[in-house]
Amino acid sequence: MTPRLHYFERVSSTMDVLHELAASGAEAGTAVLAAEQLEGRGSRGRSWHSPLGGVWLSVLFRPAAADGLDVISLRAGLSAAEALQTLLPMLIQVKWPNDLILDNQKLGGVLCEARWQGDLLVWVTIGVGINVHNDVPDDDRSHATALGALVPAITIDEVTHLLLPALRTLDLRAGRLSADELRRFERRDWLRGREIREPVAGMVQGIAEDGALLVDQGTGSSVSVRTGSVELAESLPAGNFDHATRARHREH
Ligand code: BTN
Repeated sequence: MTPRLHYFERVSSTMDVLHELAASGAEAGTAVLAAEQLEGRGSRGRSWHSPLGGVWLSVLFRPAAADGLDVISLRAGLSAAEALQTLLPMLIQVKWPNDLILDNQKLGGVLCEARWQGDLLVWVTIGVGINVHNDVPDDDRSHATALGALVPAITIDEVTHLLLPALRTLDLRAGRLSADELRRFERRDWLRGREIREPVAGMVQGIAEDGALLVDQGTGSSVSVRTGSVELAESLPAGNFDHATRARHREH
C-alpha cells in the first residue's frame, strides 16, 4: 500500500510535522504537504518564505545505513528537476548543493534533516519547496522565480504528483553518486564553468562522486569544497538573461 500523504492548510514547517509523525512510527514514504508554512526552514538555518501558492513537501525515509547522506541533497535536487522538467521546455538546472534554478533564478530548494539515536540513523526527512504561484522574495540575496510565471495554467496538484514519486523513490542507501548521476547532474549544473569567490575562489569544474564541489583555482588541479555558501565572482543578470538588470547573485 502507498504510504500516506498528509495535507495541511497551514503548518509551522512540514519538516516539524513529519518529524512528529516519524517519532510516532510513521512508515518510510509518508509525506506531508502544506498549503502554507509559517516557519518554513531553508538550508544553513535560514528561513524559507512559504506563502500560499507554492508546493511545500516533505518525505520520510528510514534508511538502514547512512551511506548516501552526504549526497542526498544533490540526488533529491536532481530528481526533482528531472521530474518537473516535463512541465516546461526551459531546462531546470541544479545548483550545488541544494538549489533548483530556472532562468538564472531560484525556483526551489531542498532541505534534508536526519535524526539519530546515538550512532544509529533513525530517520531522514527530505523537504522540497517549489515556487509555483506564490509571491517570491525579491531582494538582493535571492533572485527567485516561480513555475507559474512561465506556465500560468500549472496547478499545485500537477507539481505535487510529479514531485512526490520522484522523492519517494530516492535510494538513500545508494552511497556515492554514480557515473550516470554525475552525467545527468552535469547536464543541469548551473555553476559549472562559472567563476566563484566563495567558499573558495576559482572556476567551478563540476561535482565529485562524493558530492563535493570541484573548483579549479588555477593551480592545475581542482580543490574539493564540501560546505559553504557559493558566491559568484561576477554579478549576474537577474532573470530572462536581461543584462540591464545585473545584480549581485548570491545563494538564497
Ligand atoms: C533551501 O533552498 O534553502 C531549502 C529550502 C527547503 C524548503 C522546503 S519547503 C518544505 C520543507 N519544509 C521546510 O520548512 N523546508 C522545506
